[in-house]
Amino acid sequence: MRRPWISCNLAISADGKISDSARRPSDWTSVADKERLVRLRRGVDALLVGRGTLEADRMTLTVAGQQQQPLRCIVSRHGRLDPMHPLFHRDGGGIHLLATEVGHANEVRAPDGVVVHTGGLESFLETMSVSHGVETMHCEGGGALVHALAVLDVIDELHLTIVGHLVIGGHASPTITGTAADFLPASRRFRLAEWSDGNNGECYVTWRREGR
Ligand SMILES: NC(=O)c1ccc[n+]([C@@H]2O[C@H](COP(=O)([O-])OP(=O)(O)OC[C@H]3O[C@@H](n4cnc5c(N)ncnc54)[C@H](OP(=O)(O)O)[C@@H]3O)[C@@H](O)[C@H]2O)c1
Repeated sequence: MRRPWISCNLAISADGKISDSARRPSDWTSVADKERLVRLRRGVDALLVGRGTLEADRMTLTVAGQQQQPLRCIVSRHGRLDPMHPLFHRDGGGIHLLATEVGHANEVRAPDGVVVHTGGLESFLETMSVSHGVETMHCEGGGALVHALAVLDVIDELHLTIVGHLVIGGHASPTITGTAADFLPASRRFRLAEWSDGNNGECYVTWRREGR
């Protein structure tokens, strides 16, 4: 299958959680982490998020000061998006919505200009690569979506901010691959590529897929 090169970026607590069980917004990282998040967006062809993260974090998926904005890709089962969400009111890259459990794109009532795709995540990745020229795609979560990418074994680079001074707890609180019940078909292996100490209680680490 032809697909984009895919990176993911998430922040985890000392116990590996990406949020609490109420899936509240991720506002527990430093300014340095937020700057890193923006840096990692620079130069990619497309950004990718799950509908849960888009809603919780009120993201607009743009890169300030960059002429060529990345495409903004959202994954959902039914594609029910709030038309008042800031994403639809901020200039940026074209918006592509994948609705995996909808038979036909016409069944999704999306705001004007949104390109609706149906089918599975794998075929969506192929379409974005083949028909929209996406060579690099950067995913910012959440756990359900990263889990799906890990099942497909399409994660090439993994960036984590390790927030070791915070313990979130709760078995219903998601990790980077969702909740504890969400097994993967096999382990996915990466090699350490880069790390740095933020001198603020956070550590910034990058791992790359084995063999690259
Ligand atoms: N710490 C971090 O770096 C970080 C990063 C991202 C998010 N978060 C936090 O994580 C929480 C959200 O986590 P989450 O696991 O619920 O997030 P998520 O993956 O963004 O959202 C889950 C929703 O996204 C859609 N979705 C995801 N994968 C899908 C797939 N393979 N096929 C079809 N639909 C898919 C579904 O939307 P529908 O319900 O529309 O079908 C699903 O209900 C929030 O609190 C957010 O702030 C933290």
